[in-house]
Amino acid sequence: MFFVLPKEYREASLEELRERVGAAKAKLGRRLCILTHHYQRMEVVAFGDHLGDSYGLSKIAAVQEEADIIIFCGVHFMAEAADILTARHQKVYLSNPLAGCPMADMADMADVTRAWDSLKRFGGEKTFMPISYMNTAADLKAFTGKFGGLICTSSNADAALRYAFERKEKVFFCPDRNLGQNAGIKMGLKPHEMALWDFSREQGGLTDEEIERAKIIVWKGHCHVHTNFTVQHVDAMREKHPNAQIIVHPECIPEVVAKADTAGSTSLIVKYCADAPSGSTIAIGTELNLIDRLAHDHPDKTILPLSEAVCPVCPNMYRTTLNCLAYCVEKFADIEPISVSDELRSDVHLSLQRMLEVQ
Ligand code: 13P
Ligand code: SF4
Repeated sequence: MFFVLPKEYREASLEELRERVGAAKAKLGRRLCILTHHYQRMEVVAFGDHLGDSYGLSKIAAVQEEADIIIFCGVHFMAEAADILTARHQKVYLSNPLAGCPMADMADMADVTRAWDSLKRFGGEKTFMPISYMNTAADLKAFTGKFGGLICTSSNADAALRYAFERKEKVFFCPDRNLGQNAGIKMGLKPHEMALWDFSREQGGLTDEEIERAKIIVWKGHCHVHTNFTVQHVDAMREKHPNAQIIVHPECIPEVVAKADTAGSTSLIVKYCADAPSGSTIAIGTELNLIDRLAHDHPDKTILPLSEAVCPVCPNMYRTTLNCLAYCVEKFADIEPISVSDELRSDVHLSLQRMLEVQ
């Protein structure tokens, strides 16, 4: 995809951009709904009608009735989900169309199909339920819906696993190895019951025996932002701030999750900070824009990134600037909306509908 923001928008001052976005919003009124993910920049969040994590924003998109222009300030897979959950006359725009998610790109449909075909020998769809993280492209969501599975987010991964194990013997989990393993550990699964599917190797690099004894097969994908955090960071934080509560996102590696006080979705992290008593110190292992905003919103608490040694900014979320939002809100009529193909829509819808039902 090719996208260059016109010069006029690239060169406008922050002040001018604020005025223009505000004026466009006032003009469009209830026709417009701006959804902003928690990892967005502060100046973008300021213009959002709703702020949330991927699960929360999906739910909000699904109940939009008046707005026919929905601008998503997030990444591509989130806008695709919003397109599926809204009516056909409602158009969804991604404020920076180049904002993707590398983790979603790690599960290419051709590799997933090859893996699924290999699993036929081990019972295939009779035995395995696919669960795919929200961070996937529409074709993988459609595959998931088609084979009786569901989408999960970090908010409902545990519930999604329970849903699956009530119906099938095993789970095929894509694409985040860490979310899959962390949810499995929480359920009490043993290491040998969780097998890692390395898509670059024949039969995922697994022996027949490893596949047979696995309860979950997790795809070898990861988030390059959350896997920055290490156990050494947790130890260093405990030494420097012995009173700090450490909370991390489940995209962090299981060793970090095991050492933290709590692990939870973005909305859980937000709530944890809001509910903590005044004077608390909270160290967070997640995206930096969210941590900075939480620190700003709770000046009576000390809210810190888990480590100062890494810069856990999601470069894709960061692509959305106020310049992009100004362009999108003024020129949406000239912009291609995010649209999932007709061929995939009903299966994607199935997978997302199950997600919304499972909490
Ligand atoms: P949430 O599901 O918590 O919004 O997270 C999405 C994401 O991309 C986290 O890295
Ligand atoms: Fe993708 Fe990680 Fe960015 Fe989330 S933080 S959008 S998983 S790259």
